[in-house]
Amino acid sequence: MFDAATYRARRRTLLQEDRPAEGLVLLPGNTPSPRNYADNPHPFRQDSTFLYYFGHDRPHLCGVMDLEEGTASLYGRTSTLEDEIWTGGTPSLQALADRVGAQKGGSLSVLEEALADARARGRTIHFPPPYRDAQRLRYARWLGGAPDEIGAQASEALARAVIRQRSVKTDAEVAEIEDALTATAQIHRAAQRHAVPGATEQSLVGRMTGRLAGANRSFAFPPTCSIHGEVLHNHASPNTLAEGDLLLVDAGATSPRHYAGDITRVTPVGGRFTERQRALYTAVLAAQEAALQALAPGVPFVEIHRRAAHVLTEHLMELGLMQGDPAAAVAAGAHALFFPHGLGHMVGLDVHDMESLGEDRVGYADDQSRSDQFGLNALRLARPLRPGYVVTVEPGCYFIPPLIEHWRAEGRHDEFLRYDRVTEFMKEGGIRLEDDALITADGARVLGPSLPKSVDAVEAEAGAAV
Ligand code: GLY
Ligand code: MN
Ligand code: MN
Repeated sequence: MFDAATYRARRRTLLQEDRPAEGLVLLPGNTPSPRNYADNPHPFRQDSTFLYYFGHDRPHLCGVMDLEEGTASLYGRTSTLEDEIWTGGTPSLQALADRVGAQKGGSLSVLEEALADARARGRTIHFPPPYRDAQRLRYARWLGGAPDEIGAQASEALARAVIRQRSVKTDAEVAEIEDALTATAQIHRAAQRHAVPGATEQSLVGRMTGRLAGANRSFAFPPTCSIHGEVLHNHASPNTLAEGDLLLVDAGATSPRHYAGDITRVTPVGGRFTERQRALYTAVLAAQEAALQALAPGVPFVEIHRRAAHVLTEHLMELGLMQGDPAAAVAAGAHALFFPHGLGHMVGLDVHDMESLGEDRVGYADDQSRSDQFGLNALRLARPLRPGYVVTVEPGCYFIPPLIEHWRAEGRHDEFLRYDRVTEFMKEGGIRLEDDALITADGARVLGPSLPKSVDAVEAEAGAAV
């Protein structure tokens, strides 16, 4: 946890500067999520907005802010003798409240009375959108209404205020992300250095998992560790590496305070890119470098996405996979055959930061709307950048057989796409390069320790430990 002053200051900002007009703000922490029966839960993950304002990483808590009084209270389950015997006791709610600078601590039954009283007096109760059924059930019980419909009552004003605040990272938060990236670099190196013919993907996942567990950290999201990088969120690792494969690892560690890192690297198994792989890798690297250089306050991220797409397209034209005018091809969306996802997203307490509050609210300004063009429609972040934002930059180039077959059968964008050549590349899989950058007053800074990325550095790293 940070110190109490940090949480007090964060709440003060919400209460004073960014606040919804009146009422109570209800920020429930998470409850345990059972795997197969109640006493056998998944590892606990606290709700990130609760963590941001109330810090405690334990289940059954709920934070409340009173917008008129300017006060904060922390409610929770009081521990029973049974709890003390089986899982150990917990500090009193007042002690937990004191630890994060909240005025009052109390039991959940006191919270229920306070909510009933607020409703009886017609006060607005602002709460963030639920993303778990357990939250829907609890909101419905506390506030009245059907669990399936309660999400519609979530507070737009609160979600927007929280997003405005959480989007701009403080120095302490950037330090957490850099800490996460240091551990992230270690697990990537562990995978790269053992990526040799005969190694299994799962053994590399195991090396990463072991390092994280030994350091009391976890993955920030399910990792991709696969020679089938063309499956964009591929969480299966059943294959054995062979000479000539490209291993794509997209993995991130958490910091002790739960901030995320999110890095992708591609390693040639056997230590040498084929000529074709090298050309494709170089194309993605050039797109990423162009995008990183273009990061600056005020620049809409959608423009940086287009810049990366343009550079990638120029390279694909040189390779004979595309033809025509690069700007026209990008405007038409033809490059999305190879690059069907967005360039990046914000990173913070969540790897896709704040998406539970609404992907478009986080990623799009009021005067922007999401395109329905294939590829651009997957862009999570489009808004103008501001100092303090931390964003990923992750262009890719993929050969996705069902997508290629589908477009080829339609003749889609055939003025820009050389399907004869594309089918020759069908087995080339996928390449993505991802780094995390902080937007500064006059540009951007790539965060975390440097991790091999040039063709030579990656070839030198591949299998180096074996
Ligand atoms: N690791 C998921 C992503 O890069 O968005
Ligand atoms: Mn990412
Ligand atoms: Mn990633």
